Amino acid sequence: MNEAAARASDEPVLVRPSRESDVEAMLAIYRHHVRNGVPRDEGTGAPEPDDLRERRKNLKQTRLPHLVATWRGEVVGYAYAVLFRKRPAYRYTAKHSIYVHHAHLGRGVGRLLLQELIDACAAAGFRQMIGYIDADNAPSLALHGRFGFARAGLLSGVAYRHGRWSDTVMVQRSLGAGTTTPPPVTAPGR
Ligand SMILES: CC(C)(COP(=O)(O)OP(=O)(O)OC[C@H]1O[C@@H](n2cnc3c(N)ncnc32)[C@H](O)[C@@H]1OP(=O)(O)O)[C@@H](O)C(=O)NCCC(=O)NCCS
Repeated sequence: MNEAAARASDEPVLVRPSRESDVEAMLAIYRHHVRNGVPRDEGTGAPEPDDLRERRKNLKQTRLPHLVATWRGEVVGYAYAVLFRKRPAYRYTAKHSIYVHHAHLGRGVGRLLLQELIDACAAAGFRQMIGYIDADNAPSLALHGRFGFARAGLLSGVAYRHGRWSDTVMVQRSLGAGTTTPPPVTAPGR
């Protein structure tokens, strides 16, 4: 690595709320992982730009975080949370997703995004965070373990991809007071 490249790689990765202008970069990251077989929970196709735009708009209205990580001004990863379930009883539980650009894996971007996402969900008043992770996805399982997510269950053979059935691991961690106190009168996202 020459001196200029070494200096550039010292530049920090920054995390901030996503913007409309980030949508194409987020989709490119997502499409690459889908093409290369990373498990997803989005149905059969990659989301179209309008889906992602719509989701961002909805999340903004409900104060759910939708974040990007940038390095030298480029989007190198993103993470967001949605409500675990839409029914009112579940309004204190968020379910999240996280994707890092394939050229920037293993450099701490996922760690930064997940920390910010946890902090943002806690600040918004959520009490539980849930992730669904393919049982073969060692990096994601390790990342979540590092942040205190415990295995909450295993869904056997719930996905069929690459010619075989795959299991999904459910991971969970509590936020803030967790289940030790009742929720405040105002629900998150209301
Ligand atoms: C999972 C993912 C978000 C991790 O992002 P990342 O930026 O590469 O991870 P980081 O460099 O921040 O590493 C954080 C921790 O993750 C774990 N990890 C990352 N890469 C790993 C690998 N190849 N093998 C095992 N553990 C790994 C480690 O615990 C690491 O902590 P450490 O550096 O202290 O050992 C990334 O691999 C990714 O985007 N994968 C494709 C999409 C995906 O699977 N998303 C999750 C769906 S549930």
